[in-house]
Amino acid sequence: MSSVAPEPIRWVNERLELLDQTQLPEHVVFELQTSLETVYMAIRQLKVRGAPAIGIAAAYGLVVAMQPHRLDGGEAFYNALQSAADRLRTARPTAVNLAWAVDRIVRAAQPAGDGAARYRLIKTAAEEIHEQDRRMCRAIGRAGQHLIKPGAGILTHCNAGALAVSELGTATAPMYLAHAAGIPFRVYAGETRPLLQGSRLTAWELQQAGIDVTLICDTMVARMMAEGAIDRVLVGTDRVTRNGDVVNKIGTSGIAILARHFGIPFYVACPSSTFDPATPDGASVVIEERDPDEVRRVLGRAVAPVDVKVRNPAFDVTPHDLVAGFITDTGLLGPPFDQTLQRLAATDEATKVQRT
Ligand code: MRU
Repeated sequence: MSSVAPEPIRWVNERLELLDQTQLPEHVVFELQTSLETVYMAIRQLKVRGAPAIGIAAAYGLVVAMQPHRLDGGEAFYNALQSAADRLRTARPTAVNLAWAVDRIVRAAQPAGDGAARYRLIKTAAEEIHEQDRRMCRAIGRAGQHLIKPGAGILTHCNAGALAVSELGTATAPMYLAHAAGIPFRVYAGETRPLLQGSRLTAWELQQAGIDVTLICDTMVARMMAEGAIDRVLVGTDRVTRNGDVVNKIGTSGIAILARHFGIPFYVACPSSTFDPATPDGASVVIEERDPDEVRRVLGRAVAPVDVKVRNPAFDVTPHDLVAGFITDTGLLGPPFDQTLQRLAATDEATKVQRT
């Protein structure tokens, strides 16, 4: 079972194409990535976005970057890979998947060998990251499907769908599986200002899949909850810290606070690749601050005085005590999160051990 949204990342015959998500839903355009720099800019400009997709794109991006180095000696190849990795790690600071995938590619090139041998190792590692992502999404779907009861209203925020990941997405995976099983339910998609991932991407992707989706402005969440339209919140995440704090798209923590007020369970879909046991809590995470013009302008048009002061943090932190549970590739994990989430670290460690 897969969604009907186009896969955001295409890797065919060692050529990388990324779906330019800034043009959705108007145009479906894939761009060939020819260098480290094009991949770096695609991540920075949110042509490819969503934590897992950034990681997969970065992994393939390093493979593309190393194609001209296949005839190098082993050490020269490894040094060039490390400097490409250092550059790519800085493209966006918040989603842990970027550093996770880049580190994994660098580790894959560590065994001795010439450039050609090391190139083959990183190519295989990137393909494994992509395939592992597909498997994790399917497992998240199976772990969360039972949370979607017949007639339920589900609120989601930003886009944690197929466009942000691969195939089923994370927060959307239980929705796709419930829909395939014939369970009737409604999804409310918050539009997600400033860059409108909810309206441009989530509403589009769910509608294409035939799922009953209703678009709301971010300001309408409390009203929908007060009306009784929403039974559960289901969002994705860019990073979950050791204690279970959730870093996700700006606006997520406000939704979680409202959900607590109205007694609505707030769930987070989290693949192993998004759990960051090395960071103790949300306060320790660097929150990306983006261009003020993303707030002053909408789709190329001024909606504010050109020089008005602006804040534009791209993410916020939802404290772990507002989370009912994490829907993960190792099952549904409840509190105490500082203990239960360790299962994700174990899964990731097992993958590393298998691979090296
Ligand atoms: O700025 P974006 O569009 O990359 O933000 C994406 C999100 O916040 C998603 O909810 C998160 O990455 C989870 S994607 C499975």
